[in-house]
Amino acid sequence: MSLVGIKSQSLQKRAQKVIPLGVNSNFRYWGDGITPYVSRGKGAYIWDVDGNRFIDYRLAFGPIILGHAFDEVDKKVIEEIKQGTLFALTGELEIEVAEMMAEMCPGLEMIRTACSGTEATMHAIRVARAYTGRNIILKFEGNYHGLHDHVLWSTYSPVDAMGNARSPIPVPSSSGIPKTLGELIITLPFNDMDGFERTMRSYGEQIAAVITEPNQANCGAINPQPGFLELIRQKTEEYGVVFILDEVKTGFRIANGGAQEYYGIRADLATYAKALGNGYPIAAFGGKQEIMSIIGHGVAHGGTYNNNKPGIAAAYATLKLLQAKPILKTIEQRGKRLMDGLKRIFTENGIPVVFSGYPAMFSFAIGVEKVTSQRDWAMSDQKMYLYLVEEAIKRGVMPDHDVREPWYLCYSHSDADIDETLNIFSEIVKKVKK
Ligand SMILES: Cc1ncc(COP(=O)(O)O)c(C=O)c1O
Repeated sequence: MSLVGIKSQSLQKRAQKVIPLGVNSNFRYWGDGITPYVSRGKGAYIWDVDGNRFIDYRLAFGPIILGHAFDEVDKKVIEEIKQGTLFALTGELEIEVAEMMAEMCPGLEMIRTACSGTEATMHAIRVARAYTGRNIILKFEGNYHGLHDHVLWSTYSPVDAMGNARSPIPVPSSSGIPKTLGELIITLPFNDMDGFERTMRSYGEQIAAVITEPNQANCGAINPQPGFLELIRQKTEEYGVVFILDEVKTGFRIANGGAQEYYGIRADLATYAKALGNGYPIAAFGGKQEIMSIIGHGVAHGGTYNNNKPGIAAAYATLKLLQAKPILKTIEQRGKRLMDGLKRIFTENGIPVVFSGYPAMFSFAIGVEKVTSQRDWAMSDQKMYLYLVEEAIKRGVMPDHDVREPWYLCYSHSDADIDETLNIFSEIVKKVKK
């Protein structure tokens, strides 16, 4: 049985004549003849162009926190766009969004909006460099902070290209990135506390920013080890380095106040996108007033679409709902049932597996005992993971086809969806065992 239907296959052929790979982002290409093309979504489901329904655990790589085509968000967007979508002037709604974000996210004193996570991290890095007068950025292997040239290093690079873990080689994740930018980047394995301390001792005074995802949500959802984020906080403070927490995936997903609330950690700057607008184009970066207030005083930031009405209205409606109802708690309960159920299925079938992440965004690595960095994660049985995912997709359950990508849950996933998923997985895992 093919992974996708005949209409997806023919749309892919048509698309490939005018769009590279037939998709508008490389991450959506699963391969020739196996890439699904979508027609619509509602709640926790999407339908492909062949009419197949899937329980969606991709959720557009995380933005859909409430559900697809969520009525309360769409209603607010439609109401607002009828008054015009873009003015290049500031309106009251975006001020309210910034106020709500400041109320919900610890340490967020001032905020600027953007349209994508890539822009948010790019701007935060500019501000950090301007604030410190330094150039070097420290990032961790396996973390992804968007497509711009300053951070697209050692994201999904093969482990043997990354050198020794004591002195990693930063690897550009694309052709076209100027090699000279490699002089401005230091990479380290995630969770390597000794390596981090050593590097800060050697280079701390030259580093403008340490940027990290709180959890490696672009590489198997690897959790920070206890004390890791705290060590980053402590050492960045000691060396006058800006600590940028990239909450593009964790923000408004693992807690109303994101990872800063969840871990009780305070970064200097944080970046948001995805769940902030339940699928509409909106992002933000912000943090300490002392740092953010240099914007406009010799520090550039702008963007024609930064306060686009659909994005701002969606953020307004999404944040209002998150504040009013225990939405993330509900997602957590259902996600926990799913995680526990999947763990049980693997255990009953004698397949060793390590789960990581949070009920709202988790992953599992097969055949390993411990995963603390991309280097460990790369040793897991990715072939088996992909086999399970493909069998699930054939049966109407859709995690992402990319092994690195976690499973996401939203408010619209019901207990019945979780049960259906577990029944399907139980059947598939038994098959693997045989
Ligand atoms: C942690 C993180 N930062 C930044 C980005 C870039 O966001 P965008 O795709 O909106 O540019 C992503 C995208 O997945 C992300 O996961």
